[in-house]
Order: sequence, then structure tokens, then C-alpha cells
Amino acid sequence: MKRSQINALIKSTVGWLEERHVFLPPFAYWTPAEWAKKGHEYDEIRENMLGWDVTDYGQGNFDDVGLLLFTIRNGNLSKAEFAKPYAEKMLISQVDQISPNHFHWNKMEDIINRGGGKLFLQLWNATSKEALADTDVTVRIDGKVCTVPAGGSVLLAPGESITLTPGIYHLFTAKEERVLAWEVSMVNDDLTDNRFYETQERFTTIEEDEPAEYLLCNEYPEAK
Ligand SMILES: [Fe+2]
Repeated sequence: MKRSQINALIKSTVGWLEERHVFLPPFAYWTPAEWAKKGHEYDEIRENMLGWDVTDYGQGNFDDVGLLLFTIRNGNLSKAEFAKPYAEKMLISQVDQISPNHFHWNKMEDIINRGGGKLFLQLWNATSKEALADTDVTVRIDGKVCTVPAGGSVLLAPGESITLTPGIYHLFTAKEERVLAWEVSMVNDDLTDNRFYETQERFTTIEEDEPAEYLLCNEYPEAK
């Protein structure tokens, strides 16, 4: 992705959230120059990759395949000082923009539609060889056990949420309008715990066509 596209997406997202009275922690709004002055007191943000995450999954077409995320909190099970066992993320999905099919080996996650359009998810169980199983998929939607056939879908209206256990393949997209989604989960490790059905890059490659106005979660400078 071009840096100019990432700058514009984050800037317009900040405005869209403010209109909806949704506010992120202070580090969401720091410039690269401000980041350069931050010391070790902010190591938790750097080490656990909190913050902005804009990805096209390496496909080069963000409008069709992509997601804009902000990780608000996350633990790190390999570092005792960050042993928080849970994570919280904001996920913004555009209409018909696919977040590609994947499952997690370890992470259980709830995905919540906080507002906007409807959130469409398509589900399969993974086989022991990580293929798509032809078995029914059982999930919980706001406390109710629901079973869908392999490749079946659910549509979450604003306020509704789904619990996905490890080993359930899921892809999702927004319908009707952009969706402000949220994820409440066990610790998230994007470097090791995503099994994409078709090989994808989790993070984008950036073409630096203008200076960054915001840093992504994998771009923070060393502590001062
Ligand atoms: Fe997931």
C-alpha cells in the first residue's frame, strides 16, 4: 500500500469515530515526531504491537481485501511484565471488503458488531490437515448455541456478537454500510497464530510516497 493511502485512511477513520463519539487511547493520535521522544515507559505499546494496523494482506487492493484495525490492549505470554491474558481490538470493515479466511490455533475470540451495517461471517471447521471440513459448525451468538452447515454464514446486526473457538475458519465482511467491529479475545499473536486458508501476508508492504502522519503498530522507533 502507499503511505498516502494509509495516512488518508487513518485520518478519515479518526473523524468517522469522533462523529460516533468513539475515542481511542492517547497513543492513537501521536505523530511520528512525538513517538520519537517517548521513553521506556511506553514499552508495553511497542512490545505488544498496540495501535494502528492497516493491511491489504499483501493483495494490493485494499478496497476488496483488507482491514483497518487498532489494537487497544494485548498481552505477551513470553514476557512476564506483559502477562495480560486478553486482548481488545477495533476492526473496521468496508462494505464487501473481505478479511480473508483464516483460523487461529490458540486464540478464542468474540467479534462484536458495534455499529454501522451488518457483519457477514462465513464459517467452516478446519480438518486435522487444516483443510475446510464438510461438517456443521457450532458457534455461540450472544449466548445462544447456533449450528450452521460447512461454509454457512451468519449476519450480525449492530450490537450482536459471535464467539469463535480455535480451529474454526472464518472470513468476514461488512454489508450495507461500513461496520465498526470490535474483538475481545485471548492474547493475540499475529506473527504465529493466524492460519490463512490461502497464503496471505498479514501485514502490507508500504511504498513511501509521502511522510507518515501516523505510525503503524510494527513501525515504532526505539525508546529514547
Ligand atoms: Fe480471526
